[in-house]
Amino acid sequence: MHNCNQQAITKAIFPVAGLGTRFLPATKASPKEMLVVVDKPLIQYAVEEAYAAGIREMIFVTGRNKRAIEDHFDTAYELEAELAAHGKDDLIAIVNAIKPDDMECVYIRQSRALGLGHAVLCAEHLVHGAPFAVLLADDLMVGDPPIMQQMTDLFGQHRCSILAVQEVPQDQTSRYGIIQGETLTPDLIKITGLVEKPHPSVAPSNLAVAGRYILTTAVFEHIRAQLRGAGGEIQLTDGIAALLGSEQVLAYRYHGKRYDCGSRLGLLQASVDIASAHPELGGEFSAWLKTRQGI
Ligand code: UTP
Repeated sequence: MHNCNQQAITKAIFPVAGLGTRFLPATKASPKEMLVVVDKPLIQYAVEEAYAAGIREMIFVTGRNKRAIEDHFDTAYELEAELAAHGKDDLIAIVNAIKPDDMECVYIRQSRALGLGHAVLCAEHLVHGAPFAVLLADDLMVGDPPIMQQMTDLFGQHRCSILAVQEVPQDQTSRYGIIQGETLTPDLIKITGLVEKPHPSVAPSNLAVAGRYILTTAVFEHIRAQLRGAGGEIQLTDGIAALLGSEQVLAYRYHGKRYDCGSRLGLLQASVDIASAHPELGGEFSAWLKTRQGI
């Protein structure tokens, strides 16, 4: 019998079809995932993280503003010819590195922003029955090794769905999917319950799901089951909560840092931290930042 659980994670879904209303007017005509931290759009950070984990097929679930993302990962002949004519080999290398030759990009449209669960379901036919990764580019994750690699390594040992989690202040539970579970090791929790955005007074813990998932394909039927009844957004969290009834799902306290770049404050914090650590800009930027501290 074909056993999908023996496979490594080779495909990642990037849901990029949200409306990004918190960033209007910037997101009126361009997706939130194209917002820039220093010199790279958020989506490129996420794709690089997946690539570093050995993933080679990138599936983008796009919405009405899909062009900017497709263009970013496509060949830019005119630009390359122009750079070549001026001998700018260093810049050509930067442009070519956006999409390494062994990386494949696939685009699928979510015609209406019906929720994250629905966006993931749109890619069902492209994952061909194998466990897959989901990365939300508006969560910019920094870790060494990169967070998705930490997770694919764990998947190699446990062969089940894994959600990245982090502790959040108790008064912020209503912004996140919050887990309930049994601690297995300091980093791993067996999830027994999952609630979307609970009020702090009823939150089962302060462990929040971050935008990195490894999922088995059984989740699709549970997302689909919600489709029939749901009035509002079709949540991925609810699909995973239903999956708990039939499969083990683990929560992993990742080692690294998360920036909520879906919010203006998070994008600014990421920009400051990443600019400060930047090999070329870091020195000058940090020195400038120090001169501002008394203001
Ligand atoms: P968010 O809820 O943070 O994104 O979804 P949003 O709705 O675009 O943002 P705001 O609140 O209006 O500012 C998390 C991720 O899921 C994707 C988003 O693009 C984002 O990466 N998403 C969300 C979809 O792809 N489709 C949807 O229907 C909803």
